[in-house]
Amino acid sequence: MEHIEVLEEIKTKIQNPTGMSEVFGDRVIIKTKNPKFKDFPPAMFVKGFLQDYEERVKNFKVYEDDVWLIGFPRSGTTLMQEIIWLILNDYDVEKAKSADTYNRAQWFDFFNVLHKIQGVDADYMDKMPRPRIFKTHLPVQFLPDQIWTVKPKMIHIHRDVKDVAISLYHLRKNSFHDDVGTMEEHFEQILNDRTWYTPYREHVLNYQRIPDYPNILYLTYEELLADKAGVIKQTAKFLNTPITEEQVQKLIDHSKFEKMQKNKTTNMQHYHELFNQLSNDNKPTDNFIRKGIVGDHKNAMSEETIKRFDEWWAQRTTLKPGYNK
Ligand code: A3P
Repeated sequence: MEHIEVLEEIKTKIQNPTGMSEVFGDRVIIKTKNPKFKDFPPAMFVKGFLQDYEERVKNFKVYEDDVWLIGFPRSGTTLMQEIIWLILNDYDVEKAKSADTYNRAQWFDFFNVLHKIQGVDADYMDKMPRPRIFKTHLPVQFLPDQIWTVKPKMIHIHRDVKDVAISLYHLRKNSFHDDVGTMEEHFEQILNDRTWYTPYREHVLNYQRIPDYPNILYLTYEELLADKAGVIKQTAKFLNTPITEEQVQKLIDHSKFEKMQKNKTTNMQHYHELFNQLSNDNKPTDNFIRKGIVGDHKNAMSEETIKRFDEWWAQRTTLKPGYNK
């Protein structure tokens, strides 16, 4: 690939290759060749997400009225996808139930996989009704080039890495049937930048240091849960969309954890069914919308591990984990 360099390929450890490993493939560590980001670190991807990188990602056509929602996996992106879509679609919760959130606000980096396993049209994302909403986990240096000239609005959400670590473990193990190892092994993978989309710290911090980018709103999962009304209003304002108190309440209600967990257009259930079929290993599947609380790591991490994560984070930043200020 001309614009990215593959530094390393890490073979999946799956013993009996399944449809899942065929579609998603091994993990690769790649670096961008874009000089604008020359000092940005390499990142780890699922190989299947990178097919046709030039055509589908680097050269993707961007419009000024696009909205790009960005966050490391398990940072609350699905919840924000639903909120953003409703803000830009007249707060129409009935219409929201007519299609999957992952297609209304398309998961950008998953598109290659969707295209391959579900036969979704290759130009589906080009033709989405505008304003288009995309959700992506991509590190900043791998976004489409036109982002930097067209400058659409971006919303970045992050979450305390310790809760991300727990949540990602369950997702990889129980949804993606990935050979994730023990919980402790998975923690090591995060701390050593060896799991999907890592490095985590740089993912978050590099979005905070994009040069000359006025059009970005920074949110956290923690503040979203603590003050959903406030975050909804802040987001609507950022998207230049008026909102009434009644509409705020409607969104709060629609995006309640219990409701989103039951709602077939937000809970990823049919992808789970698909992943189950592909993986063919009869392993139980977790809810994608799993627990929805702040501080879940306290139930699963030792004091020592918590300290390790906090020190690891503090090596790079004075930002409090999960907080903007
Ligand atoms: P947990 O696994 O800790 O429960 P993403 O969508 O970025 O992958 O993030 C997934 C995390 O957001 C999961 O965290 C999930 O349960 C949580 N989440 C999804 N919808 C939610 C909601 N309506 N309210 C609270 N948390 C939600």
